[in-house]
Amino acid sequence: MNAIVIDKDYGSVTAEELDCVATAYAAAGIQLKRLDYQVVATQQKEPTEDEIIAGCKDAMAILATGNPPISRKVLEALPQVKFVQRFGAGVNSIDLDAAADLGVMVLNLPGFCAKELADVATAMIMSLIRNTAYYDREVRKGNWPKCKYLLPPDVRELTLGLYGFGLAGRYLHDIFYKGFGTKVIACDPYVSDTIKGQYPDVHFVSFDELVTNSDIISIHVILTPETTHVFNREVFKEMKDSAMIINTSRGPVINNDDLAWALETGEIRYAGLDTVEREPLPEKDPFKTLDNIIVNPHCGSYGVGSKKTQIQMTCDIVPQAVTTGKVPGRCVANKAVLSKNVGYQFI
Ligand SMILES: NC(=O)c1ccc[n+]([C@@H]2O[C@H](COP(=O)([O-])OP(=O)(O)OC[C@H]3O[C@@H](n4cnc5c(N)ncnc54)[C@H](O)[C@@H]3O)[C@@H](O)[C@H]2O)c1
Repeated sequence: MNAIVIDKDYGSVTAEELDCVATAYAAAGIQLKRLDYQVVATQQKEPTEDEIIAGCKDAMAILATGNPPISRKVLEALPQVKFVQRFGAGVNSIDLDAAADLGVMVLNLPGFCAKELADVATAMIMSLIRNTAYYDREVRKGNWPKCKYLLPPDVRELTLGLYGFGLAGRYLHDIFYKGFGTKVIACDPYVSDTIKGQYPDVHFVSFDELVTNSDIISIHVILTPETTHVFNREVFKEMKDSAMIINTSRGPVINNDDLAWALETGEIRYAGLDTVEREPLPEKDPFKTLDNIIVNPHCGSYGVGSKKTQIQMTCDIVPQAVTTGKVPGRCVANKAVLSKNVGYQFI
């Protein structure tokens, strides 16, 4: 049996960590090949569909450290593939419906870095409120600005609006509500009443109410057609002029051109982005020259604990499926496949 890491040089997983995964796979009788990113994707950030197809002809599992396009075309061309394993939570580059139609299990690592995402959102919120990144940039330029810049508001008196109340959103709620006493509101039409009952202080609101009432909006949704470009020019016009937007989920939830416009024109005051639409940011991008924004290179998942969980889970899921015939249902991202007879038991 063969499995293939399609994008080993994407940068999120080291060669040593892939060696650990290869050892675990080998113990289950699976040979893990690692495709050379430089060879496979000479010009692109991710391998193309055709490169994936050419590289995975004999693979029963495709492993993705980044977000390569695992489309219907790719899956139909590779009928021997049983598993697609992401080294992360987001599965927006994989056609989940096509995978379910074809009996392919798309595996992810739900919640492996939810605490870290809440931590990075906290770091960005506090840095923007207290202007620390701005002051640091000025000091490095030889300046010593005092009170000329905006006076920071008191975070205890603000309203934090969470767009998506999953694991990361709930951790961020805990930090701000329990730590600062910040008022928290949330918009998540899919969150269960049981979860809502566990957060009596959170006011669950519509999207429009979230947009108009929040001082800080922090985005924690999955990327779907419904959430793509949901923050756009019209929405920025509705937000408070003093508002901040934070995105640690996926870049395309925000129309980035519209965000640059909103920051330049003062429709909103500041933004903190761990993820952007065009990664890496092009050389000439307005986000690189604006003072009221922090951009990170999509590194919100990093952490000692999340790394350990990431590699351990990846070592376990497919090898255990192959040796025991059992697959943890919570790690199956395309839930529609759970009702299909794919030759594995979901536990
Ligand atoms: N920056 C990074 O490096 C990084 C790393 C891992 C994950 N992520 C992203 O962070 C996201 C959040 O992580 P998580 O662990 O909290 O995921 P999660 O699955 O626990 O939570 C996602 C929440 O989004 C909600 N949601 C879905 N559609 C919605 C909609 N239309 N409106 C409002 N809410 C909606 C869901 O109900 C769910 O509660 C992931 O989906 C992933 O895209 C980013």
